[in-house]
Amino acid sequence: MTQQHHLRAAGTSILIDTSDGDCRILHWGSDLGDETIDTAALVNAVPNSMFDQPVVASVIPQAARGWRGRPGLSGSRAGRGFSALLVLDGADQSSADQKSADQKSADQVGSSALTLHMIDAGGGLAVDVEYELDAGGLLLTRARLTNTGDDPYELENLSLTLPVPARASEGLDLTGRWAKEKQPQRHTIQQGTWLRSARHGRTGHDSTLVIAAGTQGFDFGTGEVWAVHLGWSGNHESMIEQLPDGETVLAVGELLAPGEVVLQPGDQYETPTVYAAYSPAGLDGISDQFYRWMRARPSHPKRPRPVVLNTWEAVYFRHDLDTLTSLADTAAALGVERFVLDDGWFLGRRSDNAGLGDWFVDPDVWPNGLTPLIDHVRGAGMEFGLWVEPEMVNLDSRLAREHPDWVSGPGGRSSLEWRRQHVLDLVNEDAWNYIFNRLDALLSENDIAYLKWDQNRDQVELGHAGRASTHAQTAAVYRLFDAVRAAHPNVEIESCSSGGARVDLGILARTDRVWASDTNDALERQTIQRWTELVVPPELVGAHVGPGHSHTTGRTHDLSFRAITALFGHFGIEWDVREASESERGELASAIAFYKQHRTLLHGGRMVRVDYPDAAAQAHGVVSQDRSEAVFSYATLAASRFEIPPRLRLPGLDDARLYRVSLGLPLAASATLGYGQPPWLASGTVASGRVLGELGLPMPLLRPEQALVLTVTAQ
Ligand code: GLA
Repeated sequence: MTQQHHLRAAGTSILIDTSDGDCRILHWGSDLGDETIDTAALVNAVPNSMFDQPVVASVIPQAARGWRGRPGLSGSRAGRGFSALLVLDGADQSSADQKSADQKSADQVGSSALTLHMIDAGGGLAVDVEYELDAGGLLLTRARLTNTGDDPYELENLSLTLPVPARASEGLDLTGRWAKEKQPQRHTIQQGTWLRSARHGRTGHDSTLVIAAGTQGFDFGTGEVWAVHLGWSGNHESMIEQLPDGETVLAVGELLAPGEVVLQPGDQYETPTVYAAYSPAGLDGISDQFYRWMRARPSHPKRPRPVVLNTWEAVYFRHDLDTLTSLADTAAALGVERFVLDDGWFLGRRSDNAGLGDWFVDPDVWPNGLTPLIDHVRGAGMEFGLWVEPEMVNLDSRLAREHPDWVSGPGGRSSLEWRRQHVLDLVNEDAWNYIFNRLDALLSENDIAYLKWDQNRDQVELGHAGRASTHAQTAAVYRLFDAVRAAHPNVEIESCSSGGARVDLGILARTDRVWASDTNDALERQTIQRWTELVVPPELVGAHVGPGHSHTTGRTHDLSFRAITALFGHFGIEWDVREASESERGELASAIAFYKQHRTLLHGGRMVRVDYPDAAAQAHGVVSQDRSEAVFSYATLAASRFEIPPRLRLPGLDDARLYRVSLGLPLAASATLGYGQPPWLASGTVASGRVLGELGLPMPLLRPEQALVLTVTAQ
């Protein structure tokens, strides 16, 4: 009997064969249509010196089925039961009839969701694996393990595995560090394991947003790509593995410490959700699927994303009512809509040495509480936002002095300090309740619309009661976010973690944007935002105009370069704008007006990145879903080796329509863009989508680290 399950949506198919008690993904990629696949014709030859039957990766690869790579499930009962043999015990599909067929005519069933139930009866294990193919083609999968045996089962690893075909010969993942997150790295896939481990107790600055494989030379607009993301904010691993027989898989899962998950009889462990996208047309197609899925979530922000002013790089810890009210006035006059008071407002917090944990407004700095500032901000027509870092504690705090046992650690000794801070053990219910009550009180007593929720350290030895607790801590943190949101449903939350060290769909399930990086240097931001937005749509990626002289790199940039860079995210300012010159304020106000005019497009359209032939420049655009309008940015990152920049193609438009293309920013083109301008730029041009997409338009001779924005409107 051949039994197959076929999920299809938006050009993607996943075909799972469950004929002989095993469960194998025969295909994940382009749509197979209604055609019946004779799997007998796909059975491999058996090579020399090998098992006597062909070996193909199971959905949970197992040594018991001949898999010689990393197993998808590992664990034991004090050493026994170390190798599971999982056998299908039933499958559920959410729609369509499921019929069985004989070996010659395999039965294929269209459906959007499938759960496979597998058991190892002798080993006392049951595993359910769920697959859900979203209408846009994004595949969501997760697994649940139940200990059906009589004694404890110590889990080492349960990961999700997806096969890719041999033509996926090039790998891509991201790495990074503080202030330089999401840097791409590419490599040829060869035999062996390419493993990215993240052991930070949080997602991590260097954590890869996706592990991807594609056809040789795939880029934003070309090539087939398979990409997998793990929605989890704790320790995790992502890998590409190729075996000697050529079988190649992508696998992701939580990374567990010894003894961290011990399942008592009847207990369950559930993996985080894995998100998997296939695109026949490059990385932009991967983004399409993530954006579409994210934007369809009921919790996705609906109203226009307000222009933010964050006080951090403007005043740091120098909190003073007069300074902050005058900053608020200047911001409001520029068109700012949300004013966020960053670190420094709570007890003892005059520097980053002390105070974390004592979430009470400091009367030394705020003798009348935050109300005078909040009233002023509200009176100026803006929302008020506040910075918090609830998961952390300084040893120099009332909290740590009163509850030293609430500080997480390996047991018996403390772990290393990081920014003079430690992690609060939120697995401890008392600590969790204290923090929830403080946040609840702050939000109840003050008119706060927004929290910037920070998390500023790695913790490689998270422990509760002497046992590793990253898994439990991550779950407790999620529960804290969920409880705060349930109690204050109108408060938006930003996830910040020393910049972009906690960017994943686990945290984004309970927050409204991420802070992509602590660098506001626009040159760095061009790359960081481009790659963060591979998965996270721009409306959820905080992007601020920093001071002209960057605080993180010392580089100096024109305001237009800074503003145009921030435009392709959730736009804000992080600069003492009282110091800006009159003309800079005018230019900033124009950029804000431009953002407001175009934010529906920027935050709802399709992101396209131009595969530009000159590495010294970078371009991307957002095209409205009906392709009637678009906004493109062209930015120089370095001095070009070309005398004249290559023409800029504008992908994603409708070939058959005519569009007017005009310079959107900077407004004062002749003043800022210099002498070398192509004639069309002065008054714009009209051309078809085909011409714009194939031939492109000549670009002006910008100096390094300059940018312009083009607006594109159908005629
Ligand atoms: C972290 C954040 C910054 C800022 C500081 C405050 O570094 O990433 O944006 O909020 O903390 O201490």
